[in-house]
Amino acid sequence: MAKIIVANWKMNPSSLKEADTLLSMISKNIGNIKNNKIIICLPFPFLYLFKKYKNKKIILGAQNASCYPEGSFTGEVSPKMLIEMGVKNVIVGHSERRAQGEDNKIINQKILNLLKFKINPILCVGETNRDKEGSYLSFIENQIKECLVGISKKQINNIIIAYEPIWAIGATGIRVATKEEFIEIKIFIKKIISDIYDSKIAHSIPIIYGGSVNYLNSKSFTEEGGADGLLVGRDSLNFKKFSAILETLN
Ligand code: PGA
Repeated sequence: MAKIIVANWKMNPSSLKEADTLLSMISKNIGNIKNNKIIICLPFPFLYLFKKYKNKKIILGAQNASCYPEGSFTGEVSPKMLIEMGVKNVIVGHSERRAQGEDNKIINQKILNLLKFKINPILCVGETNRDKEGSYLSFIENQIKECLVGISKKQINNIIIAYEPIWAIGATGIRVATKEEFIEIKIFIKKIISDIYDSKIAHSIPIIYGGSVNYLNSKSFTEEGGADGLLVGRDSLNFKKFSAILETLN
């Protein structure tokens, strides 16, 4: 089955030149991606580069958007502006943004606003740590329920859910999750979606994994773990490493 690979460049690279080189490498040298979807989520100032390298293999994404359509919101970027840049997907609810004060209510408003402008949200959920009592499950359930308030059956079809356990993210993460840990959460998320919507939607909603993905572990999630795709941070900034991940999908 076709997979979704989301590259989250975060606040990298530090120069326009490096961003240009990396994007050019990806767009020109990416191999046969079959039906897989490659979404490259660039920092705002680099979004315009996409026009230069536009091709059918890559989809343009962003890492944030305002919860308002327009107006006096200094420093914010609206989905309407992103549409004009060619953005098709936006990451929302990433733990690094939640750590800066974004709560489920704001994330919900962002999702509603993105959907209004026909941009597809990639909703990140995930716990800080796993406790034996299992309260991380109710934490994730709460994140999903609160972030999806007011989202209709029709709209939910445009959302990707990324399970990103905070303990597995970045260089400071303790370890990558296991495929079993991913499977548990995937089933759990599908049950929540089925309760809110219905089993058909629960079956079709893409659930991807993120947190220290590399070419050595990617297959364990997409094949054995049944992940519909991957959200890649660090290893999406290195063309060799990123294309090695893509190759594991073939
Ligand atoms: P990582 O980041 O692959 O560097 O762990 C993933 C993410 O936070 O999106």
